[in-house]
Amino acid sequence: MAKSKSTLFFCQVCGYESVKWMGQCPGCKEWNTFVEEPVIKTNHGKTKALSNNEPSILEDIEINHTYKCLSGIEEFDRVMGEGVVPGSLVLIGGDPGIGKSTLLLQVCRKFSGHNDKVLYISGEESLQQIKMRADRLGEFSDTFFLMCETNLTVIEETIRKYKPKFVVIDSIQTMYHESVNSSPGSVSQVRETTGILMQIAKGLQISVFIVGHVTKEGVVAGPRVLEHMVDTVLYFEGERHASYRILRSVKNRFGSTHEIGVFQMEENGLTEVKNPSAYMLKGKPKDAAGSIVVCSMEGTRPILIEIQALVCRSFFQIPRRQATGTDYNRVNLLMAVLEKRVGIHLSDCDAYVNIVGGLKVNEPAIDLGITMAVVSSYKNRSMEDTLIVFGEIGLSGEIRPVNMAKQRVLEAKKLGFKTCVVPDACMEGLTDMKGMKIIGVKTVAEAIAII
Ligand code: TYD
Ligand code: MG
Repeated sequence: MAKSKSTLFFCQVCGYESVKWMGQCPGCKEWNTFVEEPVIKTNHGKTKALSNNEPSILEDIEINHTYKCLSGIEEFDRVMGEGVVPGSLVLIGGDPGIGKSTLLLQVCRKFSGHNDKVLYISGEESLQQIKMRADRLGEFSDTFFLMCETNLTVIEETIRKYKPKFVVIDSIQTMYHESVNSSPGSVSQVRETTGILMQIAKGLQISVFIVGHVTKEGVVAGPRVLEHMVDTVLYFEGERHASYRILRSVKNRFGSTHEIGVFQMEENGLTEVKNPSAYMLKGKPKDAAGSIVVCSMEGTRPILIEIQALVCRSFFQIPRRQATGTDYNRVNLLMAVLEKRVGIHLSDCDAYVNIVGGLKVNEPAIDLGITMAVVSSYKNRSMEDTLIVFGEIGLSGEIRPVNMAKQRVLEAKKLGFKTCVVPDACMEGLTDMKGMKIIGVKTVAEAIAII
């Protein structure tokens, strides 16, 4: 077999290959991202031609409409796009210890409970460790198989022999293939092993879940190529000291990418949070200046979130501004709008804005909430407890309409809110909302007058 030996330099961000080190990557233009890795490649393991692969005409292709597999964990299924597609490759990223293995083990438990063969391959924990964790999660059926292995050749053989319907690889950074001479977790290893898993998934119509660790910058370690190769990329996030966890899809070839699933980590694994709004508003202070509730759409689901702002006199030459859970620049822009269009002088004030609960929200519909929270704190005047607001703010201080206004108001109503401040342009779709006082506003100044 032909062998070519060399060391190559790889960009850690985009996977660009080069024979020499470079300061800036020509592929993604990032600086200082090249690492040297020894590469010995044999020709095997490269794309094998599938036998009998002929082009088809569309009419001959049959679609099986019940082809998506539901796990029964609603929050997970929704994020996946109403179930798992056979033959799909799914990447789950997240900080260490956030609960990726636990989540996948629970998903496996559900699938194997439906009598589907499931194979869980771990390169991180021993069989005993996984068993101990599994015991906390409940009983597993006999169609669930566990294996500790990091050699992909062995894994491939096992998969071909057992023919499971679902496979979990925990984690991609521990796997290696003999054809690549660099250590597990390196760019070339990650790329090669993912490529092989892709062939297995597509060739045998097996759904493969890959766990990927996240770097300090918050992206899955290894080249971004990994994200391009897989069908679905999910991130599992949450704050370490809080018990809730959020599953978010950032790429999905089979569904929407805006859906989130909310979970709570408990003694016996993850439980679903069916009503995230109530969960997010837990512990909201009464009659506090600078606190307001907004409604943000996460995918198809409205979620109520508390926004808090603290504005105080600055003792620095350049006032301090801080935004947690939302875009810092957006907060600065909204404060500039307040200064220019409403005449509230914030240039000598420090301002801190926080999305309570640790959720990250970048929807423009929360603009009005941020602005009103800032003004409320600045004037030290609290707002009604049963008030909720939403609306996008334009640079001239106008309130622009947002989508799905009705769903937002209905969600607020469900949780007992009585007054709703909305963009005037959304008023048309909001007739017959009994028991809810709806105020349409055209400009920021109008909205501020309500405080
Ligand atoms: P784990 O799934 O191992 O995280 P990851 O695979 O992302 O590294 O999660 C481990 C954490 O979850 C650990 O801190 C213990 C906690 N945990 C619970 O609180 N309850 C449980 O039932 C389980 C299984 C784990
Ligand atoms: Mg793990």
